[in-house]
Amino acid sequence: MKRYHVTTFGCQMNVHDSERIKGLLESVGLGEAATPDDADFLVFNTCTIREKADERLVAHLMDARAAKQRDPGKVVVVGGCWSESMKDELFDQFPFVDLAFGPGNIHRLGDFIQAGGEIPRGHFSTFDSFAGDLPLKRDRDYQAWLQISTGCNCNCAYCIVPSVRGREHSRHPDDLVREASALAADGVRELTLLGQNVNSYGRDLRPAVTTSFAALLRALDAVPGIERIRFTSPHPKDMRDDVIEAMADSPAVCEHLHLPVQSGSTRVLKAMRRTYSRERYLTLVERIRDRIPDIALTTDIIVGFPGETDAEFEDTLTLVDEVGYDHAFTFVYSPRRGTDAARREDQVAEEVKKERIQRLVDLVQAHAARRNAALVGTVQEVLVEGPSRTDPSVLRGRTRANKAVNFGGEATAGELVDVRITASTSQTLAGQLGAPVAV
Ligand code: SAH
Ligand code: SF4
Ligand code: F3S
Repeated sequence: MKRYHVTTFGCQMNVHDSERIKGLLESVGLGEAATPDDADFLVFNTCTIREKADERLVAHLMDARAAKQRDPGKVVVVGGCWSESMKDELFDQFPFVDLAFGPGNIHRLGDFIQAGGEIPRGHFSTFDSFAGDLPLKRDRDYQAWLQISTGCNCNCAYCIVPSVRGREHSRHPDDLVREASALAADGVRELTLLGQNVNSYGRDLRPAVTTSFAALLRALDAVPGIERIRFTSPHPKDMRDDVIEAMADSPAVCEHLHLPVQSGSTRVLKAMRRTYSRERYLTLVERIRDRIPDIALTTDIIVGFPGETDAEFEDTLTLVDEVGYDHAFTFVYSPRRGTDAARREDQVAEEVKKERIQRLVDLVQAHAARRNAALVGTVQEVLVEGPSRTDPSVLRGRTRANKAVNFGGEATAGELVDVRITASTSQTLAGQLGAPVAV
């Protein structure tokens, strides 16, 4: 049997796409190899969100080239966002690559491989349809991704995603409920809905289908067996009251919201074309907390967007203080090909960006530590994932707020248990299984 190995880069969308790539490869008779060394097909599912992602990938591709020099029978396949962004030059720059495809074209991969291994060299296929109906090889038993839409209709000045993932397409709500029910029947208890902008879901389906993200949350909440629903990422501009109400009303929807802010300065937000102001974002946070008081809030922040001044960066710090996030992904702005921001002449100096990110990371960590410390003494519902990776004598799982917990006691993977939190850091919680104890 020929074997494949998939190396995945990038976001959860790519992790999920890799599950489909694996499912497809297995459906045409390939088996999974434990390491790239044992594989006949070396598949890379790539990301290009920041320059660092490109650099890491190129290093991996050079390893693949060396492997192919040792064993010319190996086939190198490159999928994903970087591949799409490089489609005009990929085969010239990386002539050892046998097949490349973009994120909208996973379904074609099986055809190429099925054609008796005769891969049309240099073939590039760009997006033409949706990968929702492909076979799936899931990574995890009790948690699953559910891709509700592809692409993005936003036009954030720094972002390459719309040019590599195309316009937004929502899947039909009936298909999604069917897929969620099938996953639940297969033992899945937690669903993470995926889309570049999940809460604009359904708009492109009108007038044929009238639906919305709020309606979808309610429909998925009603699927028996699904105990937890998460989603990523919503856009603040589409975070309407109906979505907040649906979150508050739906028992399965977790008390956690990842709400990317990007900057705390209204001027920078405008230059980024985020279409909301600092004030509107803060008002939104207030509305959400009014309705769901214990909600954990996380975010994405970029420092050093072209033209960002010291004072504007300070605005980001004060916004972080005002919101008090549970966690934040922080990024140094990275110019991306074809984006408007990359063409600007007022790029921020590297040293300035470095200094800003360090200050931001420290602040984010302080808030994370404080938010986690406040949970010590409480009892949290945890979905058990199995033994801890660092200490197999304890179990690990996640709270509804998506916080990692290591805890003592006996439980089986896939169970929902009550864990009493006994200690915390900015990154994790520690606890003990058992009934609530009076404090
Ligand atoms: N569609 C999602 C995720 C986009 S990519 C969303 O809009 O939230 C994830 C994060 O990467 C973004 O939220 C942004 O903070 C960051 N990012 C995107 N492009 C970037 C760039 N050119 N430089 C630095 N960070 C970037
Ligand atoms: Fe990129 Fe903005 Fe779309 Fe997110 S919403 S994928 S940041 S263009
Ligand atoms: Fe995701 Fe990277 Fe593509 S973040 S959408 S895999 S560019």
